[in-house]
Order: sequence, then C-alpha cells, then structure tokens
Amino acid sequence: MPGSPLNPFRFGNVVIDEFADRESELAEVEADMRNGQDLVIFAPRRLGKSSLVLKAAAGVRKRKALVAYLNVMTAPNKTRFAERLAAAIYSDVAAPKAKLRDKALAMFQGLQIAPTITVDAMDGHLGFSFGIGHTEADVDRTIEMLLELPAKIAAERGQRVVLIVDEFQEIVDLDPDFPKLLRSVFQGQPEVCHVYLGSKRHVMRDLFSDANEPFWRSAKQMEIGLIPPDLFGPFIVRRFRATKKELDQDVCDQLLGITRGHPYATQELCYSLWEQTPFDGRADEELLARAMELVLQSEHAHFSLVWDGLAAGQRVLLEALAREPGRPLSGDYRDRHQLSPASSTQVALKALVDRELIEREEDGGYRVMEPFLAEWLADFVS
Ligand SMILES: Nc1ncnc2c1ncn2[C@@H]1O[C@H](COP(=O)(O)OP(=O)(O)O)[C@@H](O)[C@H]1O
Ligand SMILES: [Mg+2]
Repeated sequence: MPGSPLNPFRFGNVVIDEFADRESELAEVEADMRNGQDLVIFAPRRLGKSSLVLKAAAGVRKRKALVAYLNVMTAPNKTRFAERLAAAIYSDVAAPKAKLRDKALAMFQGLQIAPTITVDAMDGHLGFSFGIGHTEADVDRTIEMLLELPAKIAAERGQRVVLIVDEFQEIVDLDPDFPKLLRSVFQGQPEVCHVYLGSKRHVMRDLFSDANEPFWRSAKQMEIGLIPPDLFGPFIVRRFRATKKELDQDVCDQLLGITRGHPYATQELCYSLWEQTPFDGRADEELLARAMELVLQSEHAHFSLVWDGLAAGQRVLLEALAREPGRPLSGDYRDRHQLSPASSTQVALKALVDRELIEREEDGGYRVMEPFLAEWLADFVS
C-alpha cells in the first residue's frame, strides 16, 4: 500500500533516533565525554551499549567535540585493527572537514608503516591498508603512533577528542599484551576521553577491576541494564499509534512481561506484533501470541546452535533456570531440578554466565538472560 507507515521498530543495528528511556545514562555519558572523564560501560550483548554511546557522541559532536568510534569486533588481527583505527581517526578526528584533508594525510604518512590509501568510489571514504609481512614490533609501533594522533590533534586544535572503543574485550584475543600497549599510550592523554564498551563480563571485569591488569581503575565504571517497563511502555504505545495501529495497555504489559524490558528483545517482538496488526486495527492477545511464535521460529537456528554448543551439565542447568529462576547452588533447588552436586553445578553455572546466557540478579539468584531462550526451550523440550 503506497503511503502506509513503515514498521517503526528496529532491532539488530544501533538505534539513535528511536530511543526509549536511558535519559540519565545519556546525560552522564555526555557529561563524561565533555569533561574528558574516561569511562567503561559493561553490559551483556544487545542491551543498548553501542546505541547509548553513539547517541551521546552525536550530542557532544554538536558541541564541537571530535569523536572517533572503533569496533574491535571488526578487526580479525592487529594489522586490521590498525587499519580500522586509522580510518576512524582520519575521518572523525583528523579530517572531519574537507579543508583539513591534506594536513591530515601528512600525519598518516609519517607512521612507522606508511599506509596505502584508497578512495571508495561510492562514498569517497578513505581506506587505509598496511599490507602484510610486517614485524610485530612495526605493527605495534604503528598502532602506538596512531593512538597518539588524537591527543596531538586535541592539543593543536584546542578541541575535546573522544575515542570510543566498542567490544573492547576482544583486544585480548588480538594479543594478550595489547592491554598493556594501549594503556601505556592512553595514560598520558588527559585531553582525550576514552570510552570502552564491552560485554563478556568476566573479561571486562578482569581488565578493569583486577589490580594486576594495566587498565585497573583507569576509568569510571558504568553498568546499563534492562529498560524499566513503565518507561518502555509509553514509547511502544506511541509508536503504534503514530503508525495507525492501536496497542492496548494490557497487551503492552504482557509483551513487556515476556521481554522484561530487554531492549533488543522488546523491539524484536514489537516489530513482529506490528507486522501482524492491520492498519486501523488493534493488537490483541491473540496477535501477540502469533507474533511470539514467529519470533521463536526466526530465532530457532540461533538457539539450536547455542544448544548444540553446550555440555550436558550446562543444558540441564539451563533448562532448570528456564523453568525456575533461582539459586542453583542451594540444596533445595538442586533437589527440585535433579541437578548434579554443587561443585559441578558451579562449573556449569560459570560457563553459562561466561557465555552470557544467564545472569546473576541483584538478589543473588540466576535467570536466563538471552531473550526468548527460556520460551524457546519450553517449546523445544516439551
Ligand atoms: N534506548 C533504547 N530504546 C529502544 N531500543 C533500544 C534502545 N537501546 C537499544 N535498543 C534495541 O536494542 C538493540 C541492540 O542495541 P545495541 O546498542 O546494538 O546493543 P549492544 O551494543 O549492547 O549490543 C537495538 O538494535 C535496538 O533494537
Ligand atoms: Mg554493541
């Protein structure tokens, strides 16, 4: 139908315009960026870390700060890391305006390994390539020199520079000595604000909270969690209404009861429910059930892979937690769900936490964190 509104829900990529809540977090991140306060944000995958920080970045850019963003996940090795880093620093810090280009390029030509620079014919973006076959020392020195550029530029231009490193926990996989190298450069840069984002909580915690690690106490720590349903609800109802569909409050409450305000899961289920609801119609319980079924179908391949990758003891524990969130190490709980002795349940518990499938709640109990996994399991094993 030409002219009909499009689905207003989005999941998968970062969202910046379609934001629910996070007001206090956003204000805090923006203030830290402006003040040059280094910051680390922990949260499991798909909770909205990248979205939050990129929205804050858009805010501080309006106030003339220069913000570079690098996702370590996109770099399979250190040379690629250097290339992505060079591209980010070039486009967002060194040459955000065309007139700065020549001067900016000169800075990159002086690196330990001189890059080959290519221009994307489609969008004009520059690509940096360092080639292959360099010694590790040369690659490290190149990365070091690159990381010094933002501080140099900040000082020269009198502008605040922010460097965001997303999926920071991955640096350990690139090179176990990487944290030391990064930290030694970063600690002499008061004019640069470093923002680190990461999931895989144990790796991040080790990096920032272990006294033997170079990043120990180097940044203010922040955690983000689920979006409170009473703040998510109005956002959802408003988006239905703005696109000529109605969502009853009690159906919205039910939906949020399923997702508990998990950002990704909520948007995914809303997307599906919106698709099921006719224009000028109303989303009811029946459509919600149908929407949920479709979400589980589309997640089936993903969950099957997750399930395949688990050891038997982990599966048993996951199933139990899907049925009943609680304290699997207590004798009662283990008896009720016929779990192994505490010592081996403890091992399985740690493995599931490390994979971010389950999470420890404030009250010390555990519950399935991965959205829809509990519902999928209930279907799958029945
Ligand atoms: N503030 C928000 N309001 C609504 N939806 C959000 C919000 N933050 C995140 N989301 C949803 O969660 C998804 C994952 O967000 P993302 O920022 O990629 O998470 P992370 O970086 O923690 O993995 C987004 O695609 C979007 O659907
Ligand atoms: Mg992210």
